[in-house]
Amino acid sequence: MRIKHFVLLLAALACSSVAMAQADIEQRVEELLQKMTLEEKIGQMNQVSGGLQFSKEIAAGQIGSVLNIVDPVEVNAIQRIAVEQSRLGIPLLVSRDVIHGFRTIFPIPLGMAATFDTAVVERGARVAAVESTAAGVRWTFSPMLDIARDSRWGRVAEGSGEDPYLDSQMGVAMVKGYQGEKFDDPTCLAACVKHFVGYGAAEGGRDYNTAMISERSLRNTYFPAFKACIDAGALTLMTSFNDVDGVPSTGNKWLLKDVLRQEWGFDGMVVTDWNSSGEMVMHGFAEDLKDATAISINAGVDMDMMSFGFIAHTKTLVEEGKLSMATIDNAVRNILRLKFRLGLFENPYVDESLARKVAYAPEHLAAAKQCAVESAILLQNKGDVLPLKQNSTILVTGPMADAPYDQLGTWTFDGEEQYTVTPLKALGAHFNVINVPTLTYSRDKETKSFKAAQKAAKKADAIVVFVGEEAILSGEAHSLSQLNLQGAQSELIAAMKATGKPVVVVVMAGRALTIERDLAQCDAMLYSFHPGTMGGEALADLLAGVAVPSGKAPMTFLRDSGQAPFYYNHPMTGRPNLGNETLLNDIPLKAGQTSLGCTSFYLDSGYGPLFPFGYGLSYTTFEYKNISIDKQAYDKSDSIHISFDLTNTGKYEATEVVQIYVRDLVGSVVRPVKELKGFMRVSLKPGETKHCEHEIAVSDLAYWNYDMEYVVEAGRFELWVAGDSASGEALGFEVK
Ligand code: NOJ
Repeated sequence: MRIKHFVLLLAALACSSVAMAQADIEQRVEELLQKMTLEEKIGQMNQVSGGLQFSKEIAAGQIGSVLNIVDPVEVNAIQRIAVEQSRLGIPLLVSRDVIHGFRTIFPIPLGMAATFDTAVVERGARVAAVESTAAGVRWTFSPMLDIARDSRWGRVAEGSGEDPYLDSQMGVAMVKGYQGEKFDDPTCLAACVKHFVGYGAAEGGRDYNTAMISERSLRNTYFPAFKACIDAGALTLMTSFNDVDGVPSTGNKWLLKDVLRQEWGFDGMVVTDWNSSGEMVMHGFAEDLKDATAISINAGVDMDMMSFGFIAHTKTLVEEGKLSMATIDNAVRNILRLKFRLGLFENPYVDESLARKVAYAPEHLAAAKQCAVESAILLQNKGDVLPLKQNSTILVTGPMADAPYDQLGTWTFDGEEQYTVTPLKALGAHFNVINVPTLTYSRDKETKSFKAAQKAAKKADAIVVFVGEEAILSGEAHSLSQLNLQGAQSELIAAMKATGKPVVVVVMAGRALTIERDLAQCDAMLYSFHPGTMGGEALADLLAGVAVPSGKAPMTFLRDSGQAPFYYNHPMTGRPNLGNETLLNDIPLKAGQTSLGCTSFYLDSGYGPLFPFGYGLSYTTFEYKNISIDKQAYDKSDSIHISFDLTNTGKYEATEVVQIYVRDLVGSVVRPVKELKGFMRVSLKPGETKHCEHEIAVSDLAYWNYDMEYVVEAGRFELWVAGDSASGEALGFEVK
């Protein structure tokens, strides 16, 4: 009892000291704000890309933040100008896109999501924070929380895929990892949740395009990860380029004030995306840059990234009464609060020798390798060709076998390719490697070298073909209409198959490609996305069976890009596909017009996707048994206790990602066919059975209903415990 009291006392003290620190910060913000001229306030709201070339403006207090400076010597130099030469000595906030690692590059975020492992993702973000803050960067533009249900959109690489729950879990893990224990710790890297909002729903997957999303769907699908990350303490938020239902986010008052500040109580800082304020002119939503500036600031933006409109026009807008001093003061408060929170006034400088010392630390590389191991998804393994026999002879070929730059993936400004371990470098530790380079990059169409590879294959026990996408084919502004492998990569796989040797295909890509025809031409396929610095070692271990695949698809894999957008948690249609309808080539000639018995599917691409969300094989097999829930009917304040036994029925020690899905059978609006509500990673030795338990609060079944209220509606539900979103038997229950 005494211990409990002591713990409570400590917790109360901790809370009150946090509250005191917060009050102290608010007081310092107000004191500083009092001393500032309007020009100095506007200066804080201005962010530019660059460093010393802006010395004059920094000294004049015209810049509050810089991006893209990562040399600690330059960071200190500009910081010295801000602190020592500007009138009030307000330090700069130095920022950078540290998206999946700084020097040590982790798998792309989509790959990290495939791990379904929040611990490994949090660790990755911490490594990124340690490495980048050592260079003087204290603010990253990550995590990207955009729900992405269309792989044609190149930026699917940067997020956690199609599911709001997975997105929230991964986002929170990243925020925790970046920001660490204390904001004023020098290794705290302020997170920026982006892009608020709906950017991933760009029509047709065309980057920057319009998104039509209803308020209900924003709230049920696109907001949850933002809300979860803000509740977890995310310090900043970025507005998106796109409009939602005609309103560009950077000028969306409802979004930035009513939802973000009023409903969610966000007291962090809001920054535009790069010139997204200025782009409202091109959208036809603002007359000119001055108008765009007024719209952005009045909507609730605090800082302008690179439109230069705030610095140019804010003063006049205040003088003309189009912007109030109170509005400006609020924006500046949010900026100063962040700078005080980060301890920048006390610690503006960085130890210039630190960055190189911490980059690529052995424990960072080990964490990146672990993440790459867990992010690979085994999609096919005919005849258990994988793992390959250690010390056997393998032919290694394909454009991604030794592509140190491309293997890092999109948004890797600071990863250095000389540190990349490619598969070709790593495979020698486990196999006798014959390397015959064929295609030299993913779009290469030159097939002349295939013959030499086929000849060399005669001496090999198996062939491993590394294919995929160059880093630049995904990411911002790199949308595609076709998702097949580029260049002659499919031909290469087919040519290897023609040798009669077992063919293993490893795909390193920025998105879920349409690989159905390639699956038919190989025995096994390991889908690793872009795996980062340590990808080669991770893949070599997986191919050799030193590690066992456990990754699961964070996005649905399509048969054909024409199926996009296609996602597992879609609303139920009145004519769900049954899987036995007539397909294109079975339609009789001169068939009469009919829609009877017809359901929602494409005639020409089969009924469903190629692989459902959550899918992924292992070298072993798992058996789920005795799945049960503790009650038939629950109150809204209850928790659902789920229990099951999981057995490893195969030969390898391995980890299964257990997924829990729920369906609300009847709602006041149409509900998704399934929704992920929980997951857990369970590791088992061969033959081992573990009794597993999981709990879901009934309150987690709430959604924004017909009346736009966030409620759990009473009624019937179903629940699945399974290895992917398409498996398992439904258990029914009721909520009273
Ligand atoms: C534009 C991108 O949309 C955003 O994600 C990024 O953080 C900024 N540029 C800064 O580089």
